[in-house]
Amino acid sequence: MNQLCEMLGIQYPIIQGGMGNISNAVLTASVSNAGGLGTLGVGTLNPDEVEGMIKEALKLTEKPIALNIPINVTPYLQEIINLIISYKIPVVSLSAGNPSKIIPILKEKQVKILSVVGTTKQAVKAEKLGVDIIVAEGYEAAGINSTFESTTITLIPQIVDRVSIPVVAAGGIADGRGLAAVLMLGACGIQMGTRFIATKEAPFHDHYKQRVIDASDIDTRIVGRSVGKIRRLLHTPSVDSLIDLEKKGVSLEEFEEVTSERHHKIGALEGDLRSGFINGGQISGLISDLPTVENLLEGIISDAKSRISLMNKKMK
Ligand SMILES: Cc1cc2nc3c(=O)[nH]c(=O)nc-3n(C[C@H](O)[C@H](O)[C@H](O)COP(=O)(O)O)c2cc1C
Repeated sequence: MNQLCEMLGIQYPIIQGGMGNISNAVLTASVSNAGGLGTLGVGTLNPDEVEGMIKEALKLTEKPIALNIPINVTPYLQEIINLIISYKIPVVSLSAGNPSKIIPILKEKQVKILSVVGTTKQAVKAEKLGVDIIVAEGYEAAGINSTFESTTITLIPQIVDRVSIPVVAAGGIADGRGLAAVLMLGACGIQMGTRFIATKEAPFHDHYKQRVIDASDIDTRIVGRSVGKIRRLLHTPSVDSLIDLEKKGVSLEEFEEVTSERHHKIGALEGDLRSGFINGGQISGLISDLPTVENLLEGIISDAKSRISLMNKKMK
């Protein structure tokens, strides 16, 4: 059995990554029910909002779910940890910050810990700190990225060579070819974000789903380099305003306000692409349909299997 599936108690080595404040129980539970691992992201949500989302997800699925904590983003770290413990959340993914203080608390409760990294140095450190699984996320990915801008294809083999724990690939994967490719690079599974936006169950605004479906390979933009932040967004009118703002010179404070979770919700949930923004990865250009989560996962697995066996034949 696949090592990742065994460790997480799931059927397919496919994780749906956290999605900040637009995370929701319906998508998370759909992914877990379909055999993958669904993740609730906490973003800047307050403890009551997170608790409501956990309760709803636990009603919708009996399969394992994960909680993603962007460490430097949430103002409620301690309260979120308390919720993980009281609701016995089996898997936690830690991103955007130093996980060293949280790891011992979660390990004591036998929570499986995933650490999202963008460099080999972070991966080696995370392994030393005791995390169970590395999620190596390349610069192709939607949302907040590492300022070192390493791509998935370069990151995975380098990290696999430096750590002995399982490595999951994230960033730029949306189909069976992507899964097969990163398995060849030494990963044991995938984490996707963008692909799950364009699914039937995802409760996001139709403008968001349609923008993913309509996007070509050159329809994402990086914002935030001028303030030392990197964020990959789908190209929309609000992104043009953001780019203009950066050209004129923007403070970190002002940048963080215009890329806040409030503006994320305006774009992704209200569908207002002038005032709000939508995260999207470079793989958007490959996405052209709106499958159910179950069909998506089954299609990815069967496609990866047939491509791997075809490769075996080609090499004979
Ligand atoms: C709408 C959206 C919000 C995201 N928010 C978070 C987040 O809060 N925490 C996090 O670690 N990753 C976040 N990500 C990244 C995903 O979890 C995932 O790692 C990434 O999307 C994978 O790359 P892909 O978009 O190419 O599939 C977000 C992605 C999307 C699409």
